[in-house]
Amino acid sequence: MAEDVLVIGTYPREHAIAWKLKQSPRVGKVYIAPGNGGTGNVAENVPIGVMEFEKLAEFAIEKKISLTVVGPENPLGEGIVDVFQARGLRIWGPTKAAAQIESSKAFSKQLMADAGIPTAEFKIFTEHAEALAYVREKGAPIVIKVDGMVFGKGAYVCMTMEEAETALKETMLDNVLNTASKVVIEEFLDGQEISIHAISDGKTSIVFPTAQDHKTIGENDTGKMTGGMGVAAPISWVSKNQLADIEARVVRPALRTLADKGSPLVGMLYPGLMMTPKGPRVLEFNARFGCPEAEVYMRLMKSDVFGLFNACIDGTLADFDLEWDQEFAATIIIASGGYPDGYKKGLPITGIEEAEKVPNVIVFHAGTKLVNGQLVTDGGRVLSVSATGSTLKEAIERAYEAVGKIHFENMYYRRDIGAKALSGK
Ligand code: AMP
Ligand code: GLY
Repeated sequence: MAEDVLVIGTYPREHAIAWKLKQSPRVGKVYIAPGNGGTGNVAENVPIGVMEFEKLAEFAIEKKISLTVVGPENPLGEGIVDVFQARGLRIWGPTKAAAQIESSKAFSKQLMADAGIPTAEFKIFTEHAEALAYVREKGAPIVIKVDGMVFGKGAYVCMTMEEAETALKETMLDNVLNTASKVVIEEFLDGQEISIHAISDGKTSIVFPTAQDHKTIGENDTGKMTGGMGVAAPISWVSKNQLADIEARVVRPALRTLADKGSPLVGMLYPGLMMTPKGPRVLEFNARFGCPEAEVYMRLMKSDVFGLFNACIDGTLADFDLEWDQEFAATIIIASGGYPDGYKKGLPITGIEEAEKVPNVIVFHAGTKLVNGQLVTDGGRVLSVSATGSTLKEAIERAYEAVGKIHFENMYYRRDIGAKALSGK
C-alpha cells in the first residue's frame, strides 16, 4: 500500500523534494507544511509553521504519516527531529546535537580542528575591543562571521579595514542580526566556491555530484550575500580525484567525528568549500540540503528519493544504489527587486505556464502565495526556474528562456548563472 509523507518547509528546496517524492510508486499522498503558492501542484498545503513541532507531530500521528522530511535549518537546529523521534515517528534529518555542525559556527570550527579538516585559520571573540585589535593586526581582506543561524547572511567578507570595522560594530555593538555578539574571525580564502552534498545514515555516506551556487545578489559575485541566486550541476572542472580527496579529507572525518561524539548525523552533510590553490578548504558545514542545490539534485536524481530517505533512517545506505541521470541541470532564482534589502510583496505573477512549456523546465516556488486564485509574490526570492539538458550550456539556455516568459513588477535575476562553471574559473 502506498505511504503518505510530510515535507516541512516553504522554499523551492521543499517544493522540489515534494515533487520528487510524488513520483515514487511507493508514495501516496504528499503533505507540505506550510508550503507556498506553488506547492499545491504536487502536495496538499498544511497551515502549520515549521517551528510548531508539537502541532506537526500531532498532524503526522493523525494522518499516519510514514515519513517526514525536513528542509530548512532552523527547525533542525532547534531539535524537531528529537521531538518526532521521542514520539516514535520516522523523520529524515539530523538531531539537534548533530545539527550543531551548522547551527553553531564555533562548534563546527572546533570539530574541524579536532578532525584535522582543512579550513581557514580562525579565532573566536566575544569582546569587541579584542576582536578589533585582532582585525587590525591581521589586516584586510578578512572575514567576520556571527555565531548563529541567520539564513546565509551571517558572513561579512571584508575587502578593506573600513568594512571590517563596520562589520564588527554592526555585529558586536549594534547587534543588528540579533545574535549573541560572538564572532568568528577568519582568514580570507581566494578561489572558486563549490557545494558538496553527502547523504548519511550515520555510518555510511554517499557523495552527490558537485554543484555551484551563486551567493551574492550582483553579477560576477558582487554585492550583498543572499540565500542563493542560482545553481549549476555537475561542475565538470572538479575531477573525480578531487571529489575523492574531498570525501576522504572533509566528508568522512566530519561524519566520523560527529559519530565519535555520540551524535551521528543522519541526513545531509553539505559542506561549502573554497577550491583554493592550496586545495579544498571548508567555508562552512550545513546539515541539510542546500537551496537552490536541492532543485538541481531532485531534477538529476534517477533513484527513488523515498527509498533513499528511508535507507538513511534504517541505516541501510550501504546497500542503496544511488543513480543519477547523466545530464546537467541549472536553476535560476527570480527575486523581487530590492532583495536582499527591502522589497514589495503581493505583486501578481504571470507566465509560469508558458515557462514550463520550454522543454525540460520546471518552476519551483519560493516566496509566492495564492490570493483568490491569483499567484502573487510573497518574499524576496520568488521562483526557482530549473532546467535539465544534455550539456550544462543547454540546461542554462533553457532555464533562461523560461525565465524570459515570466513577469512581475520589478523582477530581478542574475544573468550569469553557470557562467563560472562553463568557463572553469
Ligand atoms: P558562510 O556563512 O560561512 O557560508 O559564508 C557565506 C559566504 O561568505 C560563503 O559562501 C563565501 O562566499 C563567503 N566566505 C565565507 N568565508 C570565507 C572566507 N574565509 N574567505 C572568502 N570568502 C568567504
Ligand atoms: N545554497 C545556500 C544554502 O542553502 O545555504
